[in-house]
Amino acid sequence: MAEISRDVVVIGAGAAGLTAANDLRKAGFSVAVLEARDRVGGRLWTDVIDTAMLEIGGQWVSPDQDALIDTIAELGLETFSRYRDGDSVYVGPDGVARRFTGEMFPVAPETERAIGEITERLDAMVAEIDPDRPWEHPNAQAWDEISWDAWLREQTDDDEAVRNLAFATGSAMLTKPTHAFSLLQSLLMAASAGSYSNLVDADFILDKRVVGGLQQVPLLLAERLGDDVLLNQPVRSLEWSDPSAGSGQAAGSGQAGTGGPGVVATTDEHTVRARFAILAHAPILYNRISFVPPLPRRQHQMHQHISMGFVIKVHAVYDRPFWREAGLSGTAFSPYELSHEAYDNTNHGDERGTLVGFVSDRNADGVFELSAEERKERILESLSHYYGPEAKNPVVYYESDWGSEEWTRGAYAASFDLGGLHRYGADLRTPVGPIHFACSDMAGAGYQHVDGAIRMGHLVATNIVDASRAAGEVG
Ligand code: FDA
Repeated sequence: MAEISRDVVVIGAGAAGLTAANDLRKAGFSVAVLEARDRVGGRLWTDVIDTAMLEIGGQWVSPDQDALIDTIAELGLETFSRYRDGDSVYVGPDGVARRFTGEMFPVAPETERAIGEITERLDAMVAEIDPDRPWEHPNAQAWDEISWDAWLREQTDDDEAVRNLAFATGSAMLTKPTHAFSLLQSLLMAASAGSYSNLVDADFILDKRVVGGLQQVPLLLAERLGDDVLLNQPVRSLEWSDPSAGSGQAAGSGQAGTGGPGVVATTDEHTVRARFAILAHAPILYNRISFVPPLPRRQHQMHQHISMGFVIKVHAVYDRPFWREAGLSGTAFSPYELSHEAYDNTNHGDERGTLVGFVSDRNADGVFELSAEERKERILESLSHYYGPEAKNPVVYYESDWGSEEWTRGAYAASFDLGGLHRYGADLRTPVGPIHFACSDMAGAGYQHVDGAIRMGHLVATNIVDASRAAGEVG
């Protein structure tokens, strides 16, 4: 068992953990990053599958995502725009594919009116929400006690309008059934992107990609940390002490030599003593670590009310982007289709064409009941409803199945159950003694996105530097 001493141990080498580690290094702190997997990046994973470069995890960057945009620029990476020339496609309840341009789906005038009015209402509500503190809104409790679906159905009895409004935060973002999370959670999702209108605007929220893949962000951040990033190191236990709170043993204080709070993180191969720990992974994985002493009651309770959404990201690569020849942009939506949304996801400078589709929550459960062949057939059939029969014959086909990933367990991210956000949200980022928390799943702006992960990484590093200075210590 190798023994290491650092100022800060970071658990998880995703965008959040690596951002925090780099900031702390710059502030003069020594760090060790312990990563469970054999690679860095977490939910950012760019790989070559059957000769096709695929973004298995996160990929898109939107114009409001300053923290991510700054990091991309600072790392010297280039971006390119998602292909969007031509018509989008919408499949309505009659199963007919209709072309459209702009943001409004080609629906009946009364449905369009309902969608427009409720969108305005939602934008007004979202404008009153501070994404960093949605629980502070005077209506937070009431809005957290009603499901997103139930609230929408109170606004209109037009089912097609409800389904189209619902899926922006439901299947497309939180990737849970719309009865399983609250109106407040939905408003937070929208507020994190600036407005509900931004969230439903594919040209905004899915604006750009990074040439060569978004995983370069964590790869380059990790490169700067060199040997201080240790792979294949799932943290099994975390001893901690907080003398100011009167808790037990002085974990880690020996190395820091301060007599202050400390931690000892243990993997199968390493013991890292440090003054602070950053848990930089999805909150649903905290219970994979044995905390000694246990985390406080509040955390025990709170963490049980957070769960991962579930979506399959489907990649279909064709010898050419055939839909463009038909004047289609590749952008396609339908709350009635197995793949509720799909886009042109062709790589920068690639002659081949790639479509990406998404199969969410209960639809994802359903297709995982099928054999791999049947699942592929059903999903490609759904894509063919948007793009025609040629969509059924990709040269490369791949499903990103994050539900099977032990160190993630779903996609895209985690959210509270009904009522959980106003009850617990304010405590999610609050440190416990020397243990700090950072992850996209607890961000305000950039919530559930790489931008939010980076924001949380910066925030937690600042908090640790401040806590250290307040205690009269330097890095
Ligand atoms: P993340 O989960 O990435 O990193 C945590 C790390 O901790 C992991 O590497 C994990 O292995 C490690 N870990 C966990 N437990 C551990 C333990 N006990 N010991 C040691 N290590 C441990 N976002 C976006 O902005 N644009 C997009 O287009 C998309 N699209 C998208 C598609 C898909 C399919 C997914 C899955 C996700 C997205 N996202 C996205 C979301 C985005 O990828 C995500 O929010 C961030 O990458 C999360 O970064 P974090 O660093 O917070 O956690």
